[in-house]
Amino acid sequence: MRILVTGGAGYIGSVIVEDLVRLGHETTVYDSLDRGHAGSVHPAATLVRGTVGERELLAQTLRERDIEAVIHMAAFIEVGESVHHPEIFFQNNVVGSLEVLRAMIDTGVKNLVFSSTAALYGDPQRIPITEDDMPQPTNPYGESKLLVERMLRWLAEAHSMTITSLRYFNAAGATEMNGEDHTPESHLIPIVLRAALTGEELRIHGTDYPTKDGTCVRDFVHVLDLAQAHVLALGRRDAGMRVYNVGSGEGYSVREVMETVQRITGKTLNIVTGPRRAGDQIATVASPLRIRTDLGWQPQHAGLDEIISSAWRWRLAHPNGYGSL
Ligand SMILES: NC(=O)c1ccc[n+]([C@@H]2O[C@H](COP(=O)([O-])OP(=O)(O)OC[C@H]3O[C@@H](n4cnc5c(N)ncnc54)[C@H](O)[C@@H]3O)[C@@H](O)[C@H]2O)c1
Repeated sequence: MRILVTGGAGYIGSVIVEDLVRLGHETTVYDSLDRGHAGSVHPAATLVRGTVGERELLAQTLRERDIEAVIHMAAFIEVGESVHHPEIFFQNNVVGSLEVLRAMIDTGVKNLVFSSTAALYGDPQRIPITEDDMPQPTNPYGESKLLVERMLRWLAEAHSMTITSLRYFNAAGATEMNGEDHTPESHLIPIVLRAALTGEELRIHGTDYPTKDGTCVRDFVHVLDLAQAHVLALGRRDAGMRVYNVGSGEGYSVREVMETVQRITGKTLNIVTGPRRAGDQIATVASPLRIRTDLGWQPQHAGLDEIISSAWRWRLAHPNGYGSL
């Protein structure tokens, strides 16, 4: 298939592109490189530098490369930033997504896989979270993805498109080639691994949550298992929009993650505790039943040990992230 991946120079995108290339798909990455890394793009993929706001360039790329399907991952992702600058998130994530959809409609490309997020559920009424649970985002980042999903429903219907929205839980882990390197880094596992490497202080934001040990609980899904979910979604042939959780179904607390990192790396972490952080969800754990049943998704790299071990190997090989390439 000829596939365009917006945001394909980012963390998850780089791994998905790696997997698409491995499977023989002709892959084009469309990325502003604002927050991604040219060095993370697989050499067999074509990189087009542009923003999703540039509809003409997008449409031209879709036409020239004769694209059959789009994976739309380009977005801003940092929850804290979204709390302080919601306008930037609505512009980039919502308006930007609409431009992608309009370019697809203009060029007759009908197959879309959208990167959505568990952040749109907010603090869930029950665990595990199913796709039918009421979305109630606790931050503008989650709200921006929910707004896009709402648009996608109408667009799928009006234009007979095949749209799959994948609500990722916490993406984590690495391949040999690609791992997580955000600036600033806001995700737990890379922050804890960096602290293991440098000995810097590691802060737990909130120890009084109503969870097993008072710290937030998250569901980690290996990026390679996320990649498999995208490949399966690209295989859909029926029109209409579908929404799937992509998570392992297992919840780990922040403290459990830190303990696992200490065990795997053999390093002692310098942990301090602090107050809760604005916008953080208390606990998110997926029910992945629907994607297993409908698309046959079978995670091959589940389990915190494998996720952390792969991320640690990548971090040791790239102590300065992509800056060291
Ligand atoms: N990382 C996670 O745990 C997680 C969880 C749920 C959902 N998601 C979603 O997955 C997607 C990828 O996340 P990630 O962690 O790889 O993020 P990332 O920041 O590493 O990658 C995003 C990429 O999008 C590009 N980008 C941003 N705005 C752009 C624009 N206007 N035009 C073109 N390119 C643009 C950036 O340069 C970057 O390369 C995002 O849509 C995110 O919301 C991520």
